[in-house]
Formats: sequence, structure tokens, C-alpha cells
Amino acid sequence: MKHTHASRLRLFAARVLLATAGCSGAPGGDQSTVPGTGTSSTGGVRGASVSGSGADHAPGITAGTGGARGVGTAAGTPAGTPAGTTASTGVGVSAVPGTTSDVPCDVAAVLQSRCSDCHGATPKFGAPMSLTVAADFNKRTKDASMTVGQAVIARINDDAHPMPQAPAARLTAGESATLTVWINAGAKPSACSPTTGVSGGGGASVGAMGAPAGTDTVALDPDVTCYELKAHDPSSKSTRYNVPTTPDLYHCFSFAPPWGTDKVHMVDWKPLIDNDKVIHHWILYNDAGTVTDGADADCSGAHPSAQMVTGWAPGGQGSALPKDVGQDVSGKGFTLEIHYNNTTSTPQPDASGARVCVTKKLRPNEAGIHWLGTEGIVLPAGGKASGVCKPTTQTPVTILSSTPHMHLQGRHMTTVITRANGKTDMLIDKPFEFASQVSYPTPQSINPGDTLTTTCEYGGPAFYGQGTKQEMCYNFVLAYPNGGLASGSLLRKNGCTGL
Ligand code: HEC
Repeated sequence: MKHTHASRLRLFAARVLLATAGCSGAPGGDQSTVPGTGTSSTGGVRGASVSGSGADHAPGITAGTGGARGVGTAAGTPAGTPAGTTASTGVGVSAVPGTTSDVPCDVAAVLQSRCSDCHGATPKFGAPMSLTVAADFNKRTKDASMTVGQAVIARINDDAHPMPQAPAARLTAGESATLTVWINAGAKPSACSPTTGVSGGGGASVGAMGAPAGTDTVALDPDVTCYELKAHDPSSKSTRYNVPTTPDLYHCFSFAPPWGTDKVHMVDWKPLIDNDKVIHHWILYNDAGTVTDGADADCSGAHPSAQMVTGWAPGGQGSALPKDVGQDVSGKGFTLEIHYNNTTSTPQPDASGARVCVTKKLRPNEAGIHWLGTEGIVLPAGGKASGVCKPTTQTPVTILSSTPHMHLQGRHMTTVITRANGKTDMLIDKPFEFASQVSYPTPQSINPGDTLTTTCEYGGPAFYGQGTKQEMCYNFVLAYPNGGLASGSLLRKNGCTGL
């Protein structure tokens, strides 16, 4: 498939590109090489079915079911159901895929477009239960404290940890009322006739991570080689990691650069999702310090020497950079931090991770991760912290993506560009959820004299620090030329934070 520069840029913008900072984790890991595959034909990127009525972007979460399924398996075989073959339009649907629905049509439409990626007939991505038939709502929650229906009402109104979770948009008032009225009336079964279909509402439409259908196999240049960085058992790289039943487990796997010491550019990456029952989300970090190849350990918290390279949350598709751009990944190694939520009663094997494609034929433009935000965080509950980046560069800078990074109290981030003439442009304005961090395509050009103000909003009291109970406020911005967004700070390369 040939792409013009412009179409590649669009393609890039339509897929998610990831880059962030943070996990030093523990050494560990397994990598398998897939040299010279030439194409990224893993079935990894299935089109997120373009559905929904265009509500605000929910990268990583698609309205239909196509997106979340569209991730490749660790075995490299296509696991995706081609976009469009699933009931993914969210309009007038009579059933959540795989079930005979006995919930009213309008309720079914909301469940399908906003919940079924995770709470389908077989729960996925760490979700503890199904939300497909009326009886599901009258069961007790896992902790037996209330009915699932009551929990649904609680969580769709829970500003700290809403369902669906960020990066998905919150339910609209209409969607919320549809669920609430039906649940409060006893969540009774009722026939749904497809002809009385109700609009799925402003579902989580295809967002930043959604790839247009049909872009699932993008030819890679012959000089590009792909490597797999995957979860594995400490004993052997070919044995899957045994995920314990610990709730909300963060486990890190470490890898030396599989391509050795040569300088490379990363040009493409894909999620490899193996056991979708238990994987909730992952982040790939590039470590400035040496890592021990093959090591693994529980990890949650400080990742002081690392930059986020990319991240995945359900529905995420992976991303290709524009043809003339390559991402700097010259750290000393990688940490794959996987967030598991094994709600089954037994340990579950998993070999999820990332396929990272690199070239030694360096691209004309090198993109790097830049640190925007602030370290000046001393706030009471509900406070906001801002930092202004004043780049010292005298050349224009092209921004590709933004990856908000805060800790447990982080709720929302914006970065606003103030042009030299005083006008402003919004670079990013997104809700934040620690448990599903992703990046967003945010194409923008920055010219000399422009400044970028990043503002972070927190739920509880917030103090700057490395631990998860302390707070951060970074927008990891992927941009070229590498170093283009820097304020001359001696603290760190590509630092552009402010007070
Ligand atoms: C991207 C995946 C995903 C989507 C989409 C999603 N959920 Fe969840 N949900 C989860 C996960 C993972 C958990 C467990 C972690 C937690 O409680 O935050 C969960 C937990 C819940 C719980 C708490 C259950 C308990 O036992 O306490 C409720 C209620 C819930 N979800 C309702 C919904 C509803 C309603 C929707 C749609 C409007 C929705 N979820 C959409 C992943 C998802």
C-alpha cells in the first residue's frame, strides 16, 4: 500500500502514537525478534469501526467492538475481527454481541457503545463482570456490597473513577439517564425490536487510537525490523508469565535494546495482546539507566530514569510515524510495565506486550519526547498546577502527539499554545485516569515566540514527587526536531517545564 506524505500524516493522526516517561521498574523480560518481516502484518491493527455519532474522542476506546478486538495476539496471528463484521454501529442494535439481549433497546445501545468492549458476555481487560442481560444488573457486586445496577449508577457518576474510564468520554446526560431510569425501575427484562432502534447517543466514538478501517496492514520499508517485547515467565523467554489473582497488579519486564548498541529510529509500534481477560493496560518506557535483560518484578511508582515510549489501553491500535520521521529510543533499555487485573479465581498465563519496529537507516527528522508541565505541585484537594514551556529554539517545531502523565489524584490535563501574537490554540484537553494512560495525536506547529502552558487538575491533595502517592504533571510531547521544545534547563535533556 502506497501512501503519500499527506495521507501518512493523516494516517498517523488517526492512530495513536505514544510516548511518555517513567518506569524504571525491575529488570526482566523476554524479547523475540521478528527480523525482516517487512510488513506489520500481524493483524495487530484492525480498523476501529467508525461508529458512534462523533462524540468527543475516546482514544483507546471505540464505540464498537471492533477496536478492542483489533489487537494482535502475542503469537502474531490475527486475532482481530475485521472491522465492520461486528455489530458495532451502536444504533438500533438489539443485542450485545454474543448474547440474546433482553434489555430495552435504548439501554442496549448505551451498553454496547460504551461498555461492551470490556463488560461483554465474556468480560475483558480486567472488568469484573458482564453487562449484557437484565439479570446481570440484579447480581451482587464482587464485594457483595450492592447490586451491580446500583454500582453502575455509582460509577457513571463517580468523578474520581468514572465508568467508562478515561480516556473514554463520560456518558452524556442522555446516556446516563437511560441507564439510571431503567435500573431504578428494577432493571427488568424487555424485548428489544431492532426496528425501534434508538440512537446509541454520543458514544465513545473512534478517537485518537482508532484506525480507519482498512489501514491494518501498512507496508514497512525493507530496512525496518520489528522486535517483540513481551511478558514472560522469569524462567524462560518462551513461557508465558503467570498472572496471579492479585487485583490491580503492576508488573515490570526489562529488556536490553534487542538491536544492540547501534543507533536506530523507531518508526512503528503495535500492541500484542495475548490474554485479554486479565490485561488492563501497559506502558513501555525507555530507560536512561542500564536495565537487566530478562528480569521482572512487581513495580508501581517511581520511574525516575525513564521516558514513556508508548502505551496501550483497550482499543489502542498502535501507530506509525510519518515516513520522514523516526523516534529517538536511544536509552539503555526498556521496561514494559503491565497493569493486570485478574478477576478470575486462578492464575492466568499472559504474553502481552509491544511490537516495536525500528530502522538503522535514520529518517531525515528525528522526533523526541519533550517534558512539559511543572514540578511545582503543592495543592489542596481539587487544586490545579500549571507550568509554562518557553522554547529557546529559533526554528519551527512540529508536534506529533501528547501523553499526559500524572499519578493517582490526576483528573484532567490541558496544554494551551499561546502564539507570539497572543492568540491561543488548544494542544490537548483530556480527562486523565492513572489506570489507563494513553497518548493522543495532537498535530501542531510551534514557531519561535510561542509558549505552551500545561495545567493539571487533581482530585485530592497533591504534592510533587516520584511515588504514586505523590503527584506529577507532565505532558510528554513527541515532536521534531528532537530537542525543539526545551527551555535550556540543565536538569534534563528536552526539559521544558515551568512554574
Ligand atoms: C475499557 C474497559 C471498560 C469499559 C469501556 C467500561 N468498563 Fe466498567 N470496569 C472496567 C474495569 C477494568 C473495571 C474494574 C476496575 C474498576 O473498578 O475500576 C470496571 C469496573 C466497573 C464497575 C464496578 C464493579 C464492581 O464490582 O465494583 C462498574 C459498575 C462498571 N465497571 C460499569 C461500567 C459501565 C456501566 C460501563 C459503560 C457505561 C463501563 N463500566 C465501561 C473496564 C471497563
